[in-house]
Amino acid sequence: MNNNETYLLYSALCYEEGHSRRTQHILKVYALAKLLGEWEKISEKEQQILQAAAILHDIAIKYCKENYNGDASQENQKKEAPRLVKKFLEEANYAPEYIPQIIELVLKHHDYDTPRDKLLQLLMEADLIINCYESHPDRSKMAQIQDVFQTSAGKELLKKYKGK
Ligand SMILES: [Fe+2]
Repeated sequence: MNNNETYLLYSALCYEEGHSRRTQHILKVYALAKLLGEWEKISEKEQQILQAAAILHDIAIKYCKENYNGDASQENQKKEAPRLVKKFLEEANYAPEYIPQIIELVLKHHDYDTPRDKLLQLLMEADLIINCYESHPDRSKMAQIQDVFQTSAGKELLKKYKGK
């Protein structure tokens, strides 16, 4: 089966070996990215790219923690992510034409100050909403987060977050 998203999700969850926060984070960001993409009526191909990027967006954290003395900095993740993302996608039979864009989304999903296309916007919004529920940003951080948002569904869902 081509672009086997079910297998991709399965293998990403297995890779995390039951790590509680990262396992749940994958599932939450995946679900919300799917919702935001469908809300914005992106194409079927874009939806597949967005959902694969959501599954893999933090995939380098575990490898970096294990191989850089616990240092999963953005810099280290950016070094390791392309190889890991490519491996996971190939094992899930993603067509080669999908892979570069998914790697790019993973690499840029924290680059809030650079220009971004629709898919990166959607991935960022999904990740940021989930991060609010997970790490409860303070007021000033919250204001920065709000500035990133552009889509109507993303803005609305962010507004629902009420803090701890
Ligand atoms: Fe994330």
